[in-house]
Amino acid sequence: MEIERGTPRYIVNIGCLALPQPFEGSLLGEPVKIKKNLWLEIKNGRISRIGHEGEPEPPGVEANNVFDAYSMLATPGLIDSHTHPVFLNFRQSEFVRRCRGETYQQIAAAGGGILSSIRGVREANEEMLSALIFNRLEGFLEFGVTAIEAKSGYGLSLADELKSLRSLKKAALDHPIEVSPTLLAAHVIPPEFRDNPDGYVDLVCNSIIPQAVEEKLANAVDVFLDDSAFNPKQTRRIFKVAKEAGLDLRLHADQFSVGKGAEIAAEFGALTVDHMDYTDENGIEALAKSGVTVVLLPGAVFFLGLEHYAPARMMIEKGCKVALATDFNPGSSPTQSLPLMMSLACIKMGMTPQEALWAATMGGAYATKRQDELGSLMPGYQADICLWNAEDVEYLSYAYGSVRPEVVFKRGEVVSIFQ
Ligand code: NIG
Ligand code: FE
Repeated sequence: MEIERGTPRYIVNIGCLALPQPFEGSLLGEPVKIKKNLWLEIKNGRISRIGHEGEPEPPGVEANNVFDAYSMLATPGLIDSHTHPVFLNFRQSEFVRRCRGETYQQIAAAGGGILSSIRGVREANEEMLSALIFNRLEGFLEFGVTAIEAKSGYGLSLADELKSLRSLKKAALDHPIEVSPTLLAAHVIPPEFRDNPDGYVDLVCNSIIPQAVEEKLANAVDVFLDDSAFNPKQTRRIFKVAKEAGLDLRLHADQFSVGKGAEIAAEFGALTVDHMDYTDENGIEALAKSGVTVVLLPGAVFFLGLEHYAPARMMIEKGCKVALATDFNPGSSPTQSLPLMMSLACIKMGMTPQEALWAATMGGAYATKRQDELGSLMPGYQADICLWNAEDVEYLSYAYGSVRPEVVFKRGEVVSIFQ
């Protein structure tokens, strides 16, 4: 029987409930509050009440409005705040070349890498891309992800960037995962502009950004600030135009060497600055002061076989707000497992399992400007919930590579059950 919207539903018999807390200047202390043995009331897709310990039965429970959690762990749905799901093919052949000793940069310089994904997106039509993205959304859901940020960035022409964003929008319409779209036209300089990179920046500023805004296809603009991509001057130009157009700003920076990422992000009040593997102490202090969310992507470091992980411990000690994301893409991080990123965060970046869970929930909410309704399960928050066969939150980072939720709820509805 269909239950009317507005009628409370209950999840009872929750063994352990994780409540990530809003950021108040530091993640030190207890970023995730833990409560034991309780129930949740859900109304209109949001948490309306948390039942206290020793209050065994919620009011109004009937057979058709109650879900038994069998003592499992409940956390907010995970939020993957940096993904590149708009591509045609995976790039296993480059992986084989890397296994034989070539580097990511050598492969890119020889015409592979991001350029090979550009060829794929330019060949594909909108229907093909949106069908592929839909399948990839299913893949995220299996790991407990209920909201993502998703970038274009393999089209790199007006038509192909718009096609990428439209296909993303179409896929998201039919899927429970909420998608926050980002225009990453400034991923690399496309081949036809190799001798005129500023000409491409003109195209991004004068045509691609205005058209994406006109069609309401993006919430944010992203730029890859790197020796192989866009320089600080070009980045500032794009940021100025994007900010004036009302878009949020995101930045890929300090992935392979220290640069001006922290400075530019702070200068423009960017929403996020991502990767930051090489950021130094000065940069970290600037980031902490500016309030920008630092999105850490340990999967890309791991998959490229590198050793230089972001200095997350120092970032947290100095008061940075950090998020964890997969960077899902066919080149540097073809994984959709945010729980695996939590394990890498603990093992390679000195984070605690509590901090890792915070960064994959509340941190992701800040990184997508949804911190008032996503990323926690306090009353008023959206009922995006994962139930895990785990006794405590530590298990999620500990059992690396083998953690998946048993049940996922989106706005209070069951959208995935692990069989
Ligand atoms: O975030 N850094 C730039 N872009 C992607 C990699 C894209 C690719 O190799 O296809 C990243 O790692
Ligand atoms: Fe990325």
